[in-house]
Amino acid sequence: MKRLVVVSNRVAVPDDSKVRAGGLAVALEEALQQAGGVWFGWSGRIAPQTADSLALIEQGQVTYATVNLSRRDHAEYYNGFANRTLWPIFHYRIDLTDFNRQNYAGYLRVNTLFAEKLLPLLRDEDDIWVHDYHLIPLGEELRRRGVRQRIGFFLHTPFPAMEILLVLPSHERIVRSLCAYDVVGFQTRNDLRAFHDYITVEAGGEVLSNGLVHAFGRTLRAEVFPIGVDVEPLQRAARASVRLQTYRRLRENFGGKCLMIGVDRLDYSKGLRERMHAFGRLLDRYPGYRRRICFMQIAPPSRSDVPEYLQIRRELETEAGHINGTFAEFDWIPIHYLNSSFQRATLAGFYRYSKVGVVTPLRDGMNLVAKEYVATQDPAEPGALVLSRFAGAARELDAALLVNPYDIDGMAETMARAIEMPVAERKERWEDMMAKIRASSIDVWRENFLHALREAPFSTEAA
Ligand code: F6P
Repeated sequence: MKRLVVVSNRVAVPDDSKVRAGGLAVALEEALQQAGGVWFGWSGRIAPQTADSLALIEQGQVTYATVNLSRRDHAEYYNGFANRTLWPIFHYRIDLTDFNRQNYAGYLRVNTLFAEKLLPLLRDEDDIWVHDYHLIPLGEELRRRGVRQRIGFFLHTPFPAMEILLVLPSHERIVRSLCAYDVVGFQTRNDLRAFHDYITVEAGGEVLSNGLVHAFGRTLRAEVFPIGVDVEPLQRAARASVRLQTYRRLRENFGGKCLMIGVDRLDYSKGLRERMHAFGRLLDRYPGYRRRICFMQIAPPSRSDVPEYLQIRRELETEAGHINGTFAEFDWIPIHYLNSSFQRATLAGFYRYSKVGVVTPLRDGMNLVAKEYVATQDPAEPGALVLSRFAGAARELDAALLVNPYDIDGMAETMARAIEMPVAERKERWEDMMAKIRASSIDVWRENFLHALREAPFSTEAA
């Protein structure tokens, strides 16, 4: 049987509390346990030196292989090129993008190192599946070392419009590296269209009628695979959550009030400042809502060494403080702003209790919180979802209340509409969204990608 080799920056090593056991980790683990294989990546640890050897943990049919990174490699590869160059540019934030050759060299160096470390673990029959923007050059590096196995790549973030990508000095190398894979998966048609544009207009390649792309001397398949959530386990967790102490405490605290919830990694792409602004505008324009509604924003900090993340953290603290300072009363606080993370089971209960879910990123590959919010609702009385049209999820969840997150007045109005939505309309919209969430669950996503990889035309041309 063919083994599966998964490569990602972070590895969900069993019992490693640093990695959240989310739906993606569960889905990949399931595929790995079925076929047997390897999950390879960064250990999440910074060591005095990038490790010469791998840490190997065997569990059932799976080997978890991780490498520690030196402070310099971590700074240049992860904090640097991945999160100060590719991340902002892929999220349309040229203004926040740092172009720095030293970081770029560090990014290539860590990708080369990963290829070297992975090589001895590979077997002839393996299927290799690489994830996300940290590891775009990895496939090409493996090909250079003679790897002939099928290699797929899935981009979890948006792929930017060509005119944005062209601002990146190394755009050609990045796209050429993508073309070294046999299958490249994107979240939405928008992302695929942007990739096609680059291929035809900038790279002089061809998009063939059957989903194949020919560019940089190779033929690959480029397709859309919208990522989903683990629907049934989430629904079970949501039903069970009402017995949790956290759920009871939430109900005691917000009883009689309408709760709006947002849950996001603390990231400038998530539109948190604009969301708080809109909430402030709502309280300002519609004073009748004061005391009746509360907004709970959960935003666990991430990438805290990156200056742009420190900046957005300060801005959000100021904004939340400003709104509370302006509107709070001695027995009512409008915004509950938390920089902590919660277990999935706890969050499932928080979602189910909240009458409105607000997911308003300025740009997002998919945004699984939108799908999780919908999946955890009580079918008899589901909440309403306010969703940014710039989240990949909006392509499927068009029965949500779609908003433009840059339009603060429009968002405030839509929040009011969500609060007031009659239960019959909430149910109708929820059923529409649930049908789509079921049709593109995390299992469907994984199986479709792996099927495409196994069926991909085998290109023997050099990368
Ligand atoms: O959205 C891209 C992504 O890689 C997600 O897949 C993941 O949840 C998140 O970013 C994690 O970011 P980090 O590893 O930097 O904390």
